Amino acid sequence: MNSWTRLTTFSLSYPRQRPLFYFLGLSFILIGLYYHFIAPTSVVALDEVFDTAAPQLPDKVWDERASQVRKAFEHAYHGYERYAMPHDELKPLLDRPIDNFNGWGVTLVDSLDTMFLMGLNDEFTRALAVVERADFALPKNQFAPFFETVIRYLGGLLSAYALSNNTVLLQRADELAMKLDSVFNTTSGFPFFAVNTVTGFTRGPQLGILAEIASLQMEYTYLAKATGKIQHARRAGKIIKALSKANLDMTGGMFPVRWNISSSEPYGSHMSVGAQADSAHEYLLKQYLLSGRTDKVNLEMYLRTTTYIITQLMLISPNRHLVYVTDRDDSKSGKPGLPSQVLEHLSCFLPGLLALGVHTLPLDDLESLGIDFTSLHSGRLSEDGLKAISGYSLKDLHLWAAQSLAETCWLTYADQPTGLGPEEVVFTSSWQAKKDTLWIDAMNRWKKSGSGARGAPPGLGKKAPIVYTEEERLRGGGKGRDYAVKKPGYLLRPETIESLYLLWRVTGDHRWRERGWRIFEAIERETKTKSGYASLRTVAIKPSYQDDSMPSYFLAETLKYLYLLCRNDDPIPLDKWVFNTEAHPLPVFEWSAEERHELAIYF
Ligand SMILES: *[C@@H]1O[C@H](CO)[C@@H](O)[C@H](O)[C@H]1NC(C)=O
Ligand SMILES: *[C@@H]1O[C@H](CO)[C@@H](O)[C@H](O)[C@H]1NC(C)=O
Ligand SMILES: *[C@@H]1O[C@H](CO)[C@@H](O)[C@H](O)[C@H]1NC(C)=O
Repeated sequence: MNSWTRLTTFSLSYPRQRPLFYFLGLSFILIGLYYHFIAPTSVVALDEVFDTAAPQLPDKVWDERASQVRKAFEHAYHGYERYAMPHDELKPLLDRPIDNFNGWGVTLVDSLDTMFLMGLNDEFTRALAVVERADFALPKNQFAPFFETVIRYLGGLLSAYALSNNTVLLQRADELAMKLDSVFNTTSGFPFFAVNTVTGFTRGPQLGILAEIASLQMEYTYLAKATGKIQHARRAGKIIKALSKANLDMTGGMFPVRWNISSSEPYGSHMSVGAQADSAHEYLLKQYLLSGRTDKVNLEMYLRTTTYIITQLMLISPNRHLVYVTDRDDSKSGKPGLPSQVLEHLSCFLPGLLALGVHTLPLDDLESLGIDFTSLHSGRLSEDGLKAISGYSLKDLHLWAAQSLAETCWLTYADQPTGLGPEEVVFTSSWQAKKDTLWIDAMNRWKKSGSGARGAPPGLGKKAPIVYTEEERLRGGGKGRDYAVKKPGYLLRPETIESLYLLWRVTGDHRWRERGWRIFEAIERETKTKSGYASLRTVAIKPSYQDDSMPSYFLAETLKYLYLLCRNDDPIPLDKWVFNTEAHPLPVFEWSAEERHELAIYF
C-alpha cells in the first residue's frame, strides 16, 4: 500500500517532469504487480531509500533527526548513570550494573567523545570526575583483555583528549598503557591475549588472533605523538614490521586469522575479514592516514589485502545478485579452502573502509606515491589476483565493491520485519554448483560483454527488500532472498551504520543517509527499554525478544555514527581525523624529523 501512496505524492510535487514520472510510475507499478502477484514473498515499499531521484530532505529535517539521536544517547547514558555508573555496562531490562570489561567504567570512557561532540557538557564533566579517580587496578586473579582494553579504554581516553584538550585524559591514557606494557613481553612483540595491570602477569595461547595482535597501532602511535614518549610508537612499529616481513605466499598476500606470537609467523590459512580479523585489515589504511600518509609500508599491505579480498572473498548470489564478503577455511594443502558463504554483521565495516580508501588515496595514480602496484603482488595466488583485476580503474573497482557490499548489508536489515539486521546470514546456493560465483568473475564477464552498455556492474542497481510473512517464516516457506538467517540476534552493532555514514560522506548519495535513518527508527521502535536500549534475540520476529545487554559500543559507535550521519555540518572531516575501530576519532599528525629518525629501524 505504502508504495502507491508515496508514488502519488512524489509525482504531484514535480509536475514539470511528468513524462519521466509517468514512465517511472508505470515501471514501479509493473514491478509492484510482479511482486504482489507473482513473487512468493511480500516486498517493502519502493521509496526514497533506494530511489536516487528522490529529493534530499531539507536541512532542518536532518537537524531535527540529529536532535532525536542525541535524545536517544541521553536516554541510554542517563540510564547507565542512574543504575550502573561507575560499573562497566547497564543491564537495560533489570536496571542493574555489570562489570564485564575490567570494572573501570567502560561505558563512560567509551562515551566521552560522543558526549563532547553532542555538547553534553554536564554528562562529560560528571564522567571526567570518575576518570580522574581511575587507578586501572585489578584483583590478582583477573586479567584485562588487551584488545578490548585498547580499543575501548585507551581509544576512548585519547579521542576525548584530542577533542577537549583536557590533559587529565592524556595522563590516564599514558598510565593505562604503562600498566598494560608487560603484555608485549613476547619474542615477536605481538601482545599476549590478556594482562594483569598490577602484577604484570600475562595470559593467552601461543597462537594469537589477528585482530587481537594487530589492532593497537593507531592508539599507540597517537599516544606516543601526544605524550612525546616514542617508546609507545615502538610497540606499534614492531608489529607493523613483523606483519610486513611475514611470508604470505600461501595466502595470496593477505594475513590469515591465526599467528604464532613466539615466532611472529602466520599460522594456517583461515582467511576472514569478520570476527577475529576485521580491525587488523582496517588499521592498515587507517594507520597510514593517521600518521600523515608517510608510512608506505601500511599502505602497501592495505593494497595487497584489498586485492585478495576483492578477488577471493567477495561472492555474488545467483538470483538477487547480492554481493557479499565471506571467509575461507583452513585446508590441508596449506592454501585457503572453500568459501563458507557466511556473511557476518561484523564484516559490514568493509564497505565503509573501501569507501574511505577511495576518498583518500590516489588509487589510479599510485606511482605518484612511489608505489609499483604490480610488484606488490608476488607469489602465485597474489599474481592471480592482480591478473583478475587488471584493466579496471582501481578507484572504480573499490567503489563498486563498497557500494554493492553496503547494499547487501543494508538489505539484511530491510528484509527483516523488525528492520534490523541479523548477526550472521549464510548464502544458500551451493558453491560447488558454481552458483554463487566470485564477484570478480561476474565483473569480468560484464566487462567482456561491453560493460557500460549493459548497465550497472553486477551487484549494483535497485534491489527491493523481501520481507517474509510470519506464516512463511513459521513453515520455512519464505523464498527469494538467496540467504538464510544463521544467527538471528541484533546486538546493537554499528558496522552497517558506519558504512552507510562513510558512503554518504564519500559519494554524497543521500540514499545511504536515508537508510541509516530508517535503521535508527527501527532501533527506537524495537530495542528501547525504560532505562536504555537492549540487544534483540531475533530480528526475524516482530515484536522481538530483548536480551538484557547494552554494550558500550552502542554509545561509542552506533549512536555516534548515526548522529554524525544526521548532522548537516561535518565536525569530524575524514581528512583531518581517523576513527579507531571503536569509532573514536584521532587527529591526523605528522612525525617530526627527529621522531622519524628514532623510529627509522621499524619503518
Ligand atoms: C584544542 O587545541 C587545538 C589546538 O590548539 C584547538 O584547535 C582546539 O580548538 C582546542 N579545542 C578545545 C575544545 O579547546
Ligand atoms: C618477560 O618474560 C620473561 C621470560 O618469559 C620473564 O622472565 C620476565 O619476568 C618477563 N617480564 C615481565 C615484565 O613480565
Ligand atoms: C611457534 O613458534 C615457536 C618458535 O619458533 C615454535 O617452537 C612453536 O612450535 C610454534 N608453535 C606452533 C603452534 O606452531
